[in-house]
Amino acid sequence: MSQAHLQDSLFIKAAFSKSTERPPVWMMRQAGRFMPQYWEIKNKYSFLEMCKTPEIAADVTMLPVDLLDIDAAILFSDILVTGEAMGGDLSFTQGVGPKFANPVRTAADVDKLETQVTDRLQYVADAIKVIQQRLNGRIPLIGFAGAPFTVMSYLVEGGSSKDFKLTKLMLHNQPEVAHRLLSKIAEVTADYLNLQIEAGVNAVQLFDSWALALSWDDYTEFSHRYNKEIIAKLNRKDIPVISFCKGSSVFAPLMAEANPDVVSIDWNVDLKDIKHRLPAGMAVQGNLDPHILYADKPVIKERIHRLFERMRGEEGFIFNLGHGIMPDIPFDNVKYAIEVVKGFRY
Ligand code: CP3
Repeated sequence: MSQAHLQDSLFIKAAFSKSTERPPVWMMRQAGRFMPQYWEIKNKYSFLEMCKTPEIAADVTMLPVDLLDIDAAILFSDILVTGEAMGGDLSFTQGVGPKFANPVRTAADVDKLETQVTDRLQYVADAIKVIQQRLNGRIPLIGFAGAPFTVMSYLVEGGSSKDFKLTKLMLHNQPEVAHRLLSKIAEVTADYLNLQIEAGVNAVQLFDSWALALSWDDYTEFSHRYNKEIIAKLNRKDIPVISFCKGSSVFAPLMAEANPDVVSIDWNVDLKDIKHRLPAGMAVQGNLDPHILYADKPVIKERIHRLFERMRGEEGFIFNLGHGIMPDIPFDNVKYAIEVVKGFRY
């Protein structure tokens, strides 16, 4: 089916700051562990097998489309596949999370990383094609990649980190090594997002989940600069670009300077206030505290309506959480929140 009509979907319209009768809704980490149906698949395969087998990646991508009736699908994959394609020895272990067995800590380690790796990520392009067949023009598909600083933090630490001690030590003691690493990741990320666009995604989101750890100066030098470089290289045409970071309530003005179509905002800030501080015509996405979805249904409804009343009259608003859904949030609450959004009219 031709996809031209998707330009009139709520999600794409809101992303390009056109008015919509209600805000569109999708949720970060919507294709994941809070869904019992996810576990039925997960119990049979490893996480990386799921990402690398297009039919399975498509099955998981479609779960929230079929079960939750959301307004946009997001590709089932992970931000760390770029690090793996560059030479990182990546594994995911239940309860431990992601691990790189060969952390990148010296100039020699950085030199070893490869940058011409789109062939190794072809499985993602294949998954996108299968997903688009399954979606059959129903709703837009969002592709994504990790931003260089966030991906760097996993490569340097060798996994998840609370304080990013080794990563920050590299920024501060060996800034030239850090820049070499970040520019290699940035090159791969731009090529990777363009591969996804070529394969048929309808929007892309750059995840800089851990930018919050950085000072303003370090964010400017080690994160913003590379995100801007990536966004400038994208073959955007009619593909909206969403920039997400945890810490966006602080960094939004710099994120806007990198020229995305949408800035995804965490829950620490009033969404309307921050939107008014961004350039005209730049949309916002967010920004419900994901913990609201643990609360009782009347609370969920009241908080969503409160946000929507606040955003009344604003063009360019995509409803989402300020960060991803936690794995133990009740499925029924997520479903309810989406029904509340879909029942709302301005
Ligand atoms: O949003 C979606 O539903 C699409 C799929 C998606 C996943 N990861 C699947 C996943 C997306 C967009 C991501 C992005 C991602 N991955 C980010 C940025 C988003 C964010 O939340 O800030 C980050 C930092 C990662 C890195 C990562 N991947 C971690 C830290 C973990 C382990 C998390 C944990 O709590 O154990 C993963 C694994 C992962 N990625 C899972 C899923 C569904 C869980 C894998 C499993 O089933 O065990």
